[in-house]
Amino acid sequence: MGRPTLLALGLAAAATFVILVVGFSPAWELPRITKGAGNSKAVDLSPPPPPSVAKVPLCDATMNRTGVAEFMRAAEAKYANLRDDKFTIAIQTYRRPKELNTTLTTILSSPDVPSLHEVVVVWNNLEETPPPDFTSEYGVPVRFRRSPRNSLNEKLKPDPDFQTQAILLSDDDVFYYPSDLEFVFQTWRKFGRDRLVGGLPRCADVNDKGEWQYGMCNKKEDEYSMIITNLAFAHIKFLDYYTLAEDEATKAIRAHVDEHFNCEDIGMNYVTSMLTRTGPLLARGRREYHNFAPRTSISGKPGHMVARSRCLNMFADLFGCMPLVSETARIERGVVPRRV
Ligand SMILES: *[C@@H]1O[C@H](CO)[C@@H](O)[C@H](O)[C@H]1NC(C)=O
Ligand SMILES: *[C@@H]1O[C@H](CO)[C@@H](O)[C@H](O)[C@H]1NC(C)=O
Repeated sequence: MGRPTLLALGLAAAATFVILVVGFSPAWELPRITKGAGNSKAVDLSPPPPPSVAKVPLCDATMNRTGVAEFMRAAEAKYANLRDDKFTIAIQTYRRPKELNTTLTTILSSPDVPSLHEVVVVWNNLEETPPPDFTSEYGVPVRFRRSPRNSLNEKLKPDPDFQTQAILLSDDDVFYYPSDLEFVFQTWRKFGRDRLVGGLPRCADVNDKGEWQYGMCNKKEDEYSMIITNLAFAHIKFLDYYTLAEDEATKAIRAHVDEHFNCEDIGMNYVTSMLTRTGPLLARGRREYHNFAPRTSISGKPGHMVARSRCLNMFADLFGCMPLVSETARIERGVVPRRV
């Protein structure tokens, strides 16, 4: 399958979707000329301060990609028999039974997700036996998979029993509402098979020390370069690479995640963008996704942003360049703008 350009994407989508193109210039390119507001004011042609130069620059065509093409061809062959018209949810849980129950109940009690094939609950609470598997009222099997260890890498495993190419990576405390979930899956099918497609964008900027800095994209950024994996569709072949590739960078990322309970989503974005040279895709339903934001979540701990930035720089060092690719557009469901 060819990679759709944004133009093709826009044309194909015109009937059903709004494609909102926020800006065209890729990150860290030429400095922009600032203009005065309004016609009456003089145009200020003085150049803005030069953008900070990253110590570890963006990856380019000279990046060492030895073995990558072979690995991906093998992964594609391995998963060619999996269906692509349905999807699986891999939902990670750790001691949050109430949130898990609400998330599962919301998704499973609706006829509006006809493409949902299976739910696999990645059970990371090693001390407790998971509940028995069951089948939802709409015939969706729910399987509890006990992890051999409590690691955030468990969610990113290409489970040999998965029956679909599309996997929605998610956590127990965040979900798209049912018909939006179906919409985002269809968005993945049409526009996002070589991307992480999901609801929560994150940004990587260069600070004045030349270091990569993690952000929530809340500083009026025109572009984002990550979609975090607490709500993101991924093709199973990217899980295969993340979990099984034996290059030094990917091995070191996995080891870091095992040890520090953090940054598996950053690692997954690095690997996917390294493989495809494409950025992720933000997809929004009619409603905002639901997020419990519980007090005890890992991301609620102080120092989280610092640790995330540290991962950005450490992982870029491992690859020898920054593999993330910026995206400036997003896909929203429907024709009229969403009311927030
Ligand atoms: C490129 O990567 C391969 C496999 O990871 C490695 O064996 C090789 O030494 C690398 N080449 C260069 C020039 O770094
Ligand atoms: C959620 O909790 C209710 C009430 O305890 C229970 O009946 C139901 O089976 C639970 N659903 C799931 C999906 O765990």
